Amino acid sequence: MQIITNASVLNEQGELVKKHIILEDGVIRSLIDGDSAWEPQAGAEVTDAAGKLVTPGLIDMHVHLREPGFEHKETIETGSRSAAKGGFTTIACMPNTKPVTDNPETVQLVLDKAREAGLVKVLPYAAITVRELGRELTDFAALKAAGAIGFTDDGVGVQNAQMMKNAMRMAAELDMPVIAHCEENSLVEKGSVTEGKFAEKHGLVGIPNESEAIHVGRDILLAEATGVHYHVCHVSTEQSIRLIRQAKSIGIKVTAEVCPHHLLLSDEDIPGLDANWKMNPPLRSPRDVEACIEALLDGTLDIIVTDHAPHTEEEKAKGMEMAPFGIVGFETAFPLLYTKFVETGKWDLAMLVRRMTADPAKVFGLDTGRLEEGAPADLTMIDLDTEKEVNPAEFATKGRNTPFTGWKLKGWPVKTWVNGKVVWAD
Ligand code: DOR
Ligand code: ZN
Ligand code: ZN
Repeated sequence: MQIITNASVLNEQGELVKKHIILEDGVIRSLIDGDSAWEPQAGAEVTDAAGKLVTPGLIDMHVHLREPGFEHKETIETGSRSAAKGGFTTIACMPNTKPVTDNPETVQLVLDKAREAGLVKVLPYAAITVRELGRELTDFAALKAAGAIGFTDDGVGVQNAQMMKNAMRMAAELDMPVIAHCEENSLVEKGSVTEGKFAEKHGLVGIPNESEAIHVGRDILLAEATGVHYHVCHVSTEQSIRLIRQAKSIGIKVTAEVCPHHLLLSDEDIPGLDANWKMNPPLRSPRDVEACIEALLDGTLDIIVTDHAPHTEEEKAKGMEMAPFGIVGFETAFPLLYTKFVETGKWDLAMLVRRMTADPAKVFGLDTGRLEEGAPADLTMIDLDTEKEVNPAEFATKGRNTPFTGWKLKGWPVKTWVNGKVVWAD
């Protein structure tokens, strides 16, 4: 038995209350009123939270763990450790590995490696098309049977509308979601940053907002026709948001995610030709950032994900045009959003926590994300007071690619439990 004493937890009204939390056999056994006369049982392993925030374990439904094939960027073990350090207890990994997770054996390999790492819960996505080439659908039924939780060609958009429609039809039949990286290649050319001020200043080819939104619009119509649960990856533009908002208002089964960087940074913040500011979708205009924030607050965007995308320093040194897209996310996500939105009084703490716990659990039907008696003992303890600088040299991920180096933040996760087992302690 383990006991977390004097935890500050959010109640149903979103208020912070003091509780002692008893964990046993991998589940939350009970929550005891922190002001009642009560003594921890002799022999129990006690963590005194001493007023620190304890939340349900954070959930990240969009991450790149790079194994198999790109172990120089990350492995399932290093990625899992980075996730645990960032307070995440459940993560869902993208299939753009080598080989692509387009076959049951690779799904099994991911699950085996995750079990060997023994840290966080790793849920694999499988590809929509063979090798993510957009030419031929994968065997959805076999991939589901192997343990895939949804279908996505993340990294690239599915270019052919009929292919996407067939994928949605098949997924709907199997009661599985389709998760879409929305990008119309014919509108992208060789862009590396968003169309706009930064691209103009540096003479770079720009990626227009419509290249994302045109797939969102197309796919919403296909989702309506097929009845599938359609989930939009890393929404970054006001046009996509407009389409998602309208689709939701007429009852189409669409959900969507947003990344911390698209809530915090615009192309006008990019300091120069540094590829640590390069990701796909790119940082957009300040107006798009405002639209993302507003949409997260009104629920048009359902959940927060990191799109944790580690690359090596050599790869990122190739310059804005040649370097690969992506930034790491696990270890900075909560502190960034807490410091910039909650500490500043713009957001409720409860809203932020919900969008990283209960809401992703609800969207993807996961049995976690709640701090209740009988729930899995997936928990995160967070220090809301200590300020620390983001220092990539201290990351648990192999990636050092972040635009947030040197940011002074509060809200650092200090201890993480998965099924009652401590998987990270500061
Ligand atoms: O920034 C990104 N990185 N966007 C993607 O679509 C792919 C990802 C990656 O795999 O590095
Ligand atoms: Zn993507
Ligand atoms: Zn991604």
